[in-house]
Amino acid sequence: MMSGMAPFPIQIYPSILSGDFGRLADEAKRLELAGADAIHVDIMDGHFVPNLTLGPRALAAIRRATRLFLDVHIMIYNPFDFIEVLVQSGADRITFHFEATEDVEDTIAFIRKCGKKAGLAFRPETSFSMVPKYLDQCDLILLMTVSPGFGGQQFMPEVLEKVKLARTACEKRGIHQGGIIKPGVALPPFDIQVDGGINAETAPLCVKAGANVLVSGDYLFRQPDMKKAIEGLRGSS
Ligand code: DX5
Ligand code: ZN
Repeated sequence: MMSGMAPFPIQIYPSILSGDFGRLADEAKRLELAGADAIHVDIMDGHFVPNLTLGPRALAAIRRATRLFLDVHIMIYNPFDFIEVLVQSGADRITFHFEATEDVEDTIAFIRKCGKKAGLAFRPETSFSMVPKYLDQCDLILLMTVSPGFGGQQFMPEVLEKVKLARTACEKRGIHQGGIIKPGVALPPFDIQVDGGINAETAPLCVKAGANVLVSGDYLFRQPDMKKAIEGLRGSS
């Protein structure tokens, strides 16, 4: 792994939304061979966001094709109602939107009760003041760097400030993966994910601000050498 200057390891999750939907299993295998840390799967409902994408059966097909961690980002209203079917279809982590439900805490609890990791996503326009409360309640926060709904959009640099504030809040409160730690105990950093418009120029800005999990769709799938492109993003500093 390229280390760069990042204070912690950077994970790269290609978004299969930019892949060939006629060959999802092959795409999943290709991402595994290219050294992806996980596959990001976007599920949309046409209401919370103005687009439709994959559903549970396509997720199950990806599950059968790879042993990679499946990071499922659901952009749907009433996320609670879909947890069970997504777990059965092979999700390893389910990240739902803060703005999509009034039952954020119950939804996190149910995902965890199913034995899976729970992520909480925030749209770019949602105030940072909504974030700190959840930092020690879930396994990852996703700070969207585009308006959710489509791949291939332009990165929104104003979100970097939120990433910085989130990382600073984690550091101040000792929040790491797996909870709050005692000083001196080494644990991996709390997962702060960015998603949307991540490429060779924007990835270093996100890492510098404190993100450690980078999702990238359009950029990675347009590179002639996926392995090299993933390594390049991972070395961002
Ligand atoms: C957008 C999705 C993203 C999308 C990112 O709503 O959540 O995961 O695939 O794609 P790029 O990297 O093309 O912006
Ligand atoms: Zn996504």
